[in-house]
Amino acid sequence: MHFSKKIINWYEKNYRKLPWRETKNPYYILVSEFMLQQTKVSHTIKYYLNFIKKFPTLEKLAQSEERKVLKEWEGLGYYYRAINLHSFAIKLKNNKITFPNKYKELIKYKGIGSYTGAAIASICFNEVVPAVDGNAYRVFSRYLGIYDNITYTKTKNMFYIIILKMMDIYNPGIFNQAIMDLGSILCTKKQYKCSLCPINDSCFSLKNNTAHELPIKKIKRSVTHRFFYYIIVHDRNNNICLNKRSKKDIWKGLYDFPLIESKKNILINELINKFWKKFRIILYKKTFIYQIKHKLTHQILFIQFLNCKKIKNLEKNIFFKKFFFVSHNKIEEYPFPRPITLFLKHEKMI
Ligand code: ADE
Repeated sequence: MHFSKKIINWYEKNYRKLPWRETKNPYYILVSEFMLQQTKVSHTIKYYLNFIKKFPTLEKLAQSEERKVLKEWEGLGYYYRAINLHSFAIKLKNNKITFPNKYKELIKYKGIGSYTGAAIASICFNEVVPAVDGNAYRVFSRYLGIYDNITYTKTKNMFYIIILKMMDIYNPGIFNQAIMDLGSILCTKKQYKCSLCPINDSCFSLKNNTAHELPIKKIKRSVTHRFFYYIIVHDRNNNICLNKRSKKDIWKGLYDFPLIESKKNILINELINKFWKKFRIILYKKTFIYQIKHKLTHQILFIQFLNCKKIKNLEKNIFFKKFFFVSHNKIEEYPFPRPITLFLKHEKMI
């Protein structure tokens, strides 16, 4: 039997029943693929269902405020995905463009890379284009015995061409999803289940016992450490001071508090000075309320939340111009990064 036929037969009996597989609606597939870019399937399901319930069409998404879109994304991480998804919806609406149905068109939009573009084009529009994610690299590098480093563009291009030649031209969407499932059910990183694999009669790695060393993925990237010192400020009406993160950095579009950031740990005396200089804030002796260590892909954040003395005339204080104040019963309407949510829960503010 032909390679792709074996893969598809296996898929038909063993596929994972996932909510986005019950549709070919490109908007729903788009939402699921954006979520799945950096998030595990099991964690995505709940968010996907809530999201399409809240924003059932691309038009509804385009009409919504960014803050509300981010609120639905809260807890999923990598928030630029929500911002890109929202701006895709707005672009189509404003320019009266119908949903792009070609891979080449799709990948022109921010946030739609070759994988996401190929997944949408193949699943929704039957375009023969391989969706090459980590699963595909694992399955094909093992099956064919490819030892090239998959972090290099030249290797990625090579995989693309090889898979394009091996895929089922009549069922490209199913073929792509079958490789995803094979990679996540059988051909997993560890404890792969070769005896159940539909292509085990011709797999290089099974024959040569090399599955444990493939794919080759050598990344040269160190982890940066960042130290965040958040100050919790209330105005005279007990409204809490919030900041909207707008710079090109983690958590863009989400909300946090006035912040002093450093590359090193800052001791209390220096912190007192820094907060005075930057915000005219006087810290309490018992200033630390809560601390948390938060790991991101290439960063570790050491976060401290600090208390301060009441500040007079906050409304007129130029150091606070870029912030705004909200009452405690409105806090829940704002989207926060995970550590801020944990802090607010710890303080019983949400
Ligand atoms: N990961 C990325 N896209 C996926 C999909 N469509 N189904 C399952 N897992 C995925």
